[in-house]
Amino acid sequence: MGETSASFQKGSSESEESISLSQVLSALSFAIELTDGAMHGHSLRSCLLGMRIATEAGFSTEEKNSLYYALLLKDVGNEEILGLRCDRGASIVSKLGMGSLAADAINNLEEHWDGSGTPYGLCGSEIPRLARVAAIAQHLDMFSIGRNSRIALETLQEWSGSWFDPQLVDVVVALDERNALWDGCSASHSIEEARALVLSLDPHRRHHLDDDQIDRICEAFAEIVDAKSHFTFRHSIGVAETARGIAEALHLRPDRIRLVWRAALLHDLGKLSISNKILDKTSKLTDAEWDIVKQHPGLTRRILEQIAPFQEIAIVAGEHHEKLDGSGYPNRLTAKDLSLESRIIAVADVYSALSEDRPYRAGLNLSQILPILNGLAGRQVDKDCVEALLSYLTTHRPLEMDAQMAAAARLTRFCA
Ligand SMILES: [Fe+2]
Ligand SMILES: [Fe+2]
Repeated sequence: MGETSASFQKGSSESEESISLSQVLSALSFAIELTDGAMHGHSLRSCLLGMRIATEAGFSTEEKNSLYYALLLKDVGNEEILGLRCDRGASIVSKLGMGSLAADAINNLEEHWDGSGTPYGLCGSEIPRLARVAAIAQHLDMFSIGRNSRIALETLQEWSGSWFDPQLVDVVVALDERNALWDGCSASHSIEEARALVLSLDPHRRHHLDDDQIDRICEAFAEIVDAKSHFTFRHSIGVAETARGIAEALHLRPDRIRLVWRAALLHDLGKLSISNKILDKTSKLTDAEWDIVKQHPGLTRRILEQIAPFQEIAIVAGEHHEKLDGSGYPNRLTAKDLSLESRIIAVADVYSALSEDRPYRAGLNLSQILPILNGLAGRQVDKDCVEALLSYLTTHRPLEMDAQMAAAARLTRFCA
């Protein structure tokens, strides 16, 4: 279990530590690879292989920079892994301001040299160069990890000219002959080794993200999580907006509000590893399925802990299902362990979850939600946070908070 939000030492201010894009993206690739059927470390190894091929083939710096991010993010759009639309990865890449080259590389990853690929059936040099390298890099990794590097190379050569760009296949063969292809990429190398090599190649490692860029990345992550199941469409962003409203109503400092915003956006990141069969199930979950669901806050924490300046965000986000009375999960923490920031997100999460449709019930309206929240206040969730939520809703959702609700809210404030 380790540190809790209440015991976290806020000694080193998070904003003073810098974050690079690759640090964030490698954590995201780790998140994606927690999903069933994904190959651990695949994006990292594909990135290393692809960058070596591009360098050997004399690609420009701009091309290599785009390829780097495209390879780290390519599986964000992988339908088999995340159940997302194919163009998802590309749209996230453009949202992160990585440019059209990277987005094109992801969009055209499944095109084949002979025109037999998807989605456009492009042929030869019509396929963007970066996509051709990326396709080779992912093939090499899948075959070398699944079988071995010899088979990876043999199949690559076999499909040279049909699936793969023959000139680039020659580049791969030349690299392999010089022993300059596989460092960090074989089964004998750990994922940590691959990650360290990838981070050392980051074209922008000296460029640190500013607060707005970090916020945008957190928003993009939230979108990825929300897109996984249509029942959680806009869940993370909704929790974040509500949590920020509560934090503002409680007059938190701007840096603490920002922490709440980010932790709320990212709180369900661990859900990426839960299969949609469970998330979208309309009947009651079995005990085994429920055990899997209960792992998601811990996974959120593990993913976010990989970003050094996100330690507190990781802890706070990982506590969103903990309850003041110890009835929550995964660690059955109690009031003394849970910081105000963590309590704010817990309330925002309960509120959002009740208002959204779920596989087994329709979303509730405010007149149904408020009594439930009031019943939980003081026992499971923080009373001050519930009150702050009511005052936020009164000012920001006056139409929903009709006269009756506003009266109920006032009453709660005086009587609770
Ligand atoms: Fe959750
Ligand atoms: Fe949630």
